[in-house]
Amino acid sequence: MVRIDWFDGPRAALSGLFALADDAPVQVQRYRQLGRVLAAWDGPTVVGHLQLITAERGDDVEVKSLAVREDRQGAGIGRMLVERAISACREQNRSVLVVATAAADTRVLRFYQRLGFRFLRVERDVFTPQAGYPRVDIDGVPLRDRVWLSLDLQPPERSPAHARAVGLRVARHTDHLDELIRFYRDGLGLRELGGFRNHDGYDGVFLEIPGTGAHLELTTGGGHGVPVPHPDSLLVLYLPDAEAVRVVAARLGAAPVIPANPYWREHAITFADPDGFHVVLVGEPWRA
Ligand SMILES: CC(C)(COP(=O)(O)OP(=O)(O)OC[C@H]1O[C@@H](n2cnc3c(N)ncnc32)[C@H](O)[C@@H]1OP(=O)(O)O)[C@@H](O)C(=O)NCCC(=O)NCCS
Repeated sequence: MVRIDWFDGPRAALSGLFALADDAPVQVQRYRQLGRVLAAWDGPTVVGHLQLITAERGDDVEVKSLAVREDRQGAGIGRMLVERAISACREQNRSVLVVATAAADTRVLRFYQRLGFRFLRVERDVFTPQAGYPRVDIDGVPLRDRVWLSLDLQPPERSPAHARAVGLRVARHTDHLDELIRFYRDGLGLRELGGFRNHDGYDGVFLEIPGTGAHLELTTGGGHGVPVPHPDSLLVLYLPDAEAVRVVAARLGAAPVIPANPYWREHAITFADPDGFHVVLVGEPWRA
């Protein structure tokens, strides 16, 4: 009989399971010690694990690692681990449980959806050799993109996130709309959500800042001119790590600029957009 309980021993004892869940040892090394781990125990033996950490976003919780020993898969242990994680999060009044997995692994995507998770967003080219992942196929599909799924833990009306939720859109006016779109969408990687043409003399686009739910709106037209860049009027983006900053910087293909505030010289890389406004890229998640 398998029982699910918290694991308090040394995480190194679970290295085989962590490796089963993530093909990149260098990544596992970064997060293995984080958060709490549930284990599936068969007597004294751990046959599966599930690691819960605080997600990058607000009070979401993330299933960072999950695996069941190969010879024990398909017997309901994975489902038991996730269900126990869900009830533990509910007991703590958490709102949302998220998980990221390979888009190529349709079996795992099915597994999470059967447990109530729904698709949230896709990040392309996360599982790359540069990030430590081998070039492999899963059922003929290249391991490449990452899919985020989420599960609402509270009924909508009781969800603290719902009660607190405020949508944010920051609008900027420009005479160089196409260049700005290329910079923010194709360079920085913001996602184009939509836009409008000739609404009372204005054109514009909405660009989502990934993972935040916030939008940048860029507009042109009207009769009021454009704002003058100020070196301390900044858009600061906290990327997951230094590697993510390197990837974005390479995509921008422009030389960084020196920010006015010395703090950012030490902690980030700054670029000027085609209007001359500064965008600061920090290579670690923001922590309160
Ligand atoms: C994904 C994983 C944790 C699932 O655990 P598990 O104990 O095998 O899953 P369960 O037995 O609880 O099965 C849950 C569902 O998946 C299905 N399933 C499990 N193994 C399967 C397999 N090999 N092929 C097809 N379906 C499978 C089950 O039929 C079941 O479906 P149902 O809900 O329709 O009945 C496990 O397969 C695993 O460790 N995989 C390798 C590591 C990994 O991919 N981790 C996830 C990274 S985020």
